[in-house]
Amino acid sequence: MSAWRLLVLAVGLAVLGLGGWWWSRDAPPPPLSAAAYMPVATDLPVTPIPTSLKLDARKVALGKRLFHDKRLSRDDSTSCASCHRLDFAGHDMRPVAVGIDGQMGSLNSPTVFNAGFNFRQFWDGRAATLEEQAEGPVHNPLEMASNWHEVLIKLRRDRAMITEFERIWADGITPAHIQEAIAEFERSLITPDAPFDRYLRGDNQALNAGAKEGWRLFRDLGCIACHQGVNLGGNLYSSLGVMGDYFADRGKSIQKSDLGRFNVTGLESDKHVFKVPGLRNVVKTGPYFHDGSMATLDLAVETMARYQLGVRLSREQLSNLLAFLESLNGLYQGKPI
Ligand code: HEC
Ligand code: HEC
Repeated sequence: MSAWRLLVLAVGLAVLGLGGWWWSRDAPPPPLSAAAYMPVATDLPVTPIPTSLKLDARKVALGKRLFHDKRLSRDDSTSCASCHRLDFAGHDMRPVAVGIDGQMGSLNSPTVFNAGFNFRQFWDGRAATLEEQAEGPVHNPLEMASNWHEVLIKLRRDRAMITEFERIWADGITPAHIQEAIAEFERSLITPDAPFDRYLRGDNQALNAGAKEGWRLFRDLGCIACHQGVNLGGNLYSSLGVMGDYFADRGKSIQKSDLGRFNVTGLESDKHVFKVPGLRNVVKTGPYFHDGSMATLDLAVETMARYQLGVRLSREQLSNLLAFLESLNGLYQGKPI
């Protein structure tokens, strides 16, 4: 390059640099008070979703395939993703699940997004881990109606599948490895970077005024007593109908699935006790409640206030709480779910 060209280039770069400086002087970033980047409060029982997790990428990839594999059901009609559609926020949008042969279940499908943060799995908490949970639907006669014996026969006929397992485990395809891979995939289904998470990390602008007021109500009314932890739920059990008889008022006879934790422990005090569901992405996961009886989020929130806290919400309180819940929508691999 000639000296002349070098000079032109240098002048050009200098002009660009100056331009950038002027530009940034003309449009300074919004002023930040010292408080804006301070944690809002450190003693809160809620925490943001981590932005990444250390996972085994090979297991995640295999688990993703298995999650979508219909051979896990008796007649090859149903995969995990049939009821937990990743393009439908990880659930099926139905009040209650529909399994093999169109059989109606009696429970609402929870989302699989962020399920890895729950302290136990299922509405009644009967599975301690995602690994243990993954066995349930395969054997459930109303869901996939199969068993490991049948599933293994089918998968072991598939050369590519065998190779994929053997790349990770010397003993190849086993029920435990199927569960491990599916669980690892599910742990990857996280939705960080919700406006609320950015707010918790110190970005005071991330919530609008309504959402901020909703967050205050969420704490002051006492929703946070039950909905806490990284999922704003999923880390404790609570009875449904603390301040009123939800089931008497529902007007539908009580089903076995309404008994919740009682089905696991047999304790009278566990009747109608459920794992408190997480509220991440909740605007997208209706219908709501274990029985799918709440068609809209407005109704779910009003019912919560009334039966769990004994409060009748004003219209304004309801709309602020909804604005807060809206701020819990996160991103899966950088995109809204
Ligand atoms: C027919 C629909 C259906 C199929 C198929 C299905 N699920 Fe589910 N899933 C549900 C329902 C309904 C529940 C709640 C059941 C309960 O609590 O007893 C649930 C619960 C879960 C939970 C617990 C989430 C929580 O917050 O407690 C996880 C995780 C899950 N399923 C993953 C899977 C996996 C993995 C598969 C495939 C092996 C699968 N599901 C297949 C309907 C289905
Ligand atoms: C005493 C504990 C408790 C309190 C307080 C509470 N909740 Fe809940 N919440 C629960 C339980 C338990 C469920 C599950 C209900 C069921 O099993 O059908 C639930 C369910 C929900 C759901 C439906 C989630 C879903 O996926 O189906 C929403 C939304 C919700 N709560 C919001 C709130 C709000 C907002 C408040 C405050 C106004 C609140 N909750 C107060 C325990 C509580």
